[in-house]
Amino acid sequence: MHFNIVTLFPEFFSGPLDCGLIAKARGSGLLSFSFHNPRDAARDMRRTVDGRPYGGGPGMIMLPGPLGETLRGLGFSPRGGAVPGPLLLLKAGGSPFGQAKAAALAENATRTREPLTLVCGRYEGIDARIEELFPTEAVSVGDFVLNGGEAAALCLIEAVSRLLPGFMGHEHSVKEESFASGKAGGLLEYPQYARPEVFEGLAVPEILLSGDHAGIALWRRQASLLATRQVRPELAAAAPLAPEDRAFLRAVARPSAGRNLYCALVHYPVLDKEENSGAASLTNLDIHDIARTSCTYGLGGFYALTPLEDQRELLREILRYWISGPGARSNPDRARALASVREGRSIEDAAADVARRTGTVPLLVATSARAEHCGLPVMSFPELAGKLETMPLLLLFGTGHGLAPRALEACAAVAPPLRSFGAYNHLSVRCAAAVIFDRILND
Ligand SMILES: C[S@@+](CC[C@H](N)C(=O)[O-])C[C@H]1O[C@@H](n2cnc3c(N)ncnc32)[C@H](O)[C@@H]1O
Repeated sequence: MHFNIVTLFPEFFSGPLDCGLIAKARGSGLLSFSFHNPRDAARDMRRTVDGRPYGGGPGMIMLPGPLGETLRGLGFSPRGGAVPGPLLLLKAGGSPFGQAKAAALAENATRTREPLTLVCGRYEGIDARIEELFPTEAVSVGDFVLNGGEAAALCLIEAVSRLLPGFMGHEHSVKEESFASGKAGGLLEYPQYARPEVFEGLAVPEILLSGDHAGIALWRRQASLLATRQVRPELAAAAPLAPEDRAFLRAVARPSAGRNLYCALVHYPVLDKEENSGAASLTNLDIHDIARTSCTYGLGGFYALTPLEDQRELLREILRYWISGPGARSNPDRARALASVREGRSIEDAAADVARRTGTVPLLVATSARAEHCGLPVMSFPELAGKLETMPLLLLFGTGHGLAPRALEACAAVAPPLRSFGAYNHLSVRCAAAVIFDRILND
């Protein structure tokens, strides 16, 4: 496979491309590289390759002239003409480069023998017209900014090269690695061990010493599943899992990230249609559904709050029916969820109960469809999740037309509003609670 590398610093690559498996592959002819410096295509005496950005701003931009000339020299024509092979632009703002893209590039090179051209930016980046004129694909190697595209190009070169047939020597090893598609299913790799059997008092898992190949394969699969769910839950969710994988994950209880999250359904003080502050009536549906969602997401507790004695009596009646009455007999699961509902008069009651149970005063966080107008700092969902690691959080959900100013005054922050896709934005409080739990706990 041949790589054309367009760079202002060809010397950057000596060293990384001269050792290990890459050097071996160069020696055997499997890999080859050529370097193309836009400075060689600059026309002026000083061989200028950069200029100030139009519109102002810090730093310099790589000029399109010398770079375009370099690409022409490699056989690329502007505006949809000749394309000798894939043309990738390393760019912090490009689409994320991953294993699937590496595999597609290695497969293309093996099948077509086309070279892969990598363009390394420098300064504050490249004049945007290069991307318009040439068939480039901008890729990023991560959400961080490097000094130049060279280090990113090296990542890409290694990721693609090791997928070329003959590069690794033992082909199966790349098939079992992290992110590999196929049997591994895009999961992270299982932990690996080598000599000695015991290191600093830590022994290698016994199954790996047993010679039981089926047992070892099962242990590795399960370790991969657990590592992926722990570190990259989005990969686990997207992986094509077998029924036995799913059964395994279900059987291994997750540490409950939600145990520090509490919620309260506030019936007073809330706003009515005319924006007057008052008390709203309790609704059976909200109690049921928030209790079920709280249980499912492993919340520390759910408080139903109202200062009105007749409303609290109604709550008790509902709970009795479902926890120990006819409802429990026909629907024991519901009984379990409703048994977790705690009755309270006020927000202060709920906060005091959380403090008593956890030993820490909870952070009170409001929820509102108009969060920006609450006069409270908006805390993002990841920030709220981060808080949960060190302190309990009590999320307040308002009934009626939302929490009244007096309820908001008690809060330290407000969660971001759930935005609608159009003009209609009227979620029921139980639906909003479910979405917000999921956004915070991010399953
Ligand atoms: C200092 S950076 C320019 C950053 C640019 N001003 C921005 O804010 O996105 C210079 C060059 O480094 C390369 N680069 C920086 N970070 C990268 C990343 N995460 N992935 C790929 N290339 C990157 C690009 O080629 C870029 O043109």
